[in-house]
Amino acid sequence: MYSSSSVSKRLILIYVLAIQLLLINSELSLNTTNDYLNHTCLVSQGKYKTGSEYEKLIKHIMKMFYINSIRGYDLFGDSTFTAVLQCRGDSYGTKCRDCFVTALAALRRRCPWYKGRIIWYDQCLLSMDSKYSVGQIDYDNNFCMSNAKKVVEDRSEYIKVWNILVDDLTELAITGDNSTLYSVGEKRYKGGDMVYGMVQCAKDLSRKACQECLWYNSFHFQDCVNYFRGARVVGRSCTFRFEFYPFIAKQVHNI
Ligand SMILES: *[C@@H]1O[C@H](CO)[C@@H](O)[C@H](O)[C@H]1NC(C)=O
Ligand SMILES: *[C@@H]1O[C@H](CO)[C@@H](O)[C@H](O)[C@H]1NC(C)=O
Repeated sequence: MYSSSSVSKRLILIYVLAIQLLLINSELSLNTTNDYLNHTCLVSQGKYKTGSEYEKLIKHIMKMFYINSIRGYDLFGDSTFTAVLQCRGDSYGTKCRDCFVTALAALRRRCPWYKGRIIWYDQCLLSMDSKYSVGQIDYDNNFCMSNAKKVVEDRSEYIKVWNILVDDLTELAITGDNSTLYSVGEKRYKGGDMVYGMVQCAKDLSRKACQECLWYNSFHFQDCVNYFRGARVVGRSCTFRFEFYPFIAKQVHNI
């Protein structure tokens, strides 16, 4: 049985401090949209019934998630049920809570009664499944969305740049004693443009699993990223994104 409600008070303090610092950070004026990205109903896990133990458990755990969502994530896992809320690294406090509320309502609407279901928004993912999957890399539920505009000049240079960026950001995300499994950064691309990047793993992954997930997805989806001016690879376990414009309010302890 694993529950993250035993998070240390210290961590909460850091988040409170981070929020305060963010409030005086002008980068808050960046795009703060929270677009719906995708969802998947895990049909093979079947459906649950009204009044079942499974439904009671979901209700109970989702109440807990609502309370804990302000710190940016929550996890629950036992042999019959795993749930993960992971907000983007710069999204905590009411931003994460709002995303959670939106995601839960949408999940109920889009995958009614399904035991297993995942939904992704710009700022959060909410996932449920009917087995113990805490810490396991999900190789199945991943997808890539690229921007329409193509990289026309210096493509090999661009490929090099985003690959270096994903490696550097992965390293940054998994090192340090307070490893957040999240990092943002940018790199100059030959044409003079900046490429802005972000990587993140869900909090249930170990550092090693986080690295493996990001490596796997950057290899697996390279054709989706290589040709376009901006793309994101999104999954249950890890995600990364590149754009030619800044799209994130920088997280304080990664600067
Ligand atoms: C906001 O996002 C849009 C694409 O969704 C982008 O074209 C625009 O440049 C962004 N604005 C800022 C300030 O990042
Ligand atoms: C949505 O996610 C599933 C994987 O869970 C993927 O197969 C599908 O292509 C995705 N849809 C889009 C529009 O990206």
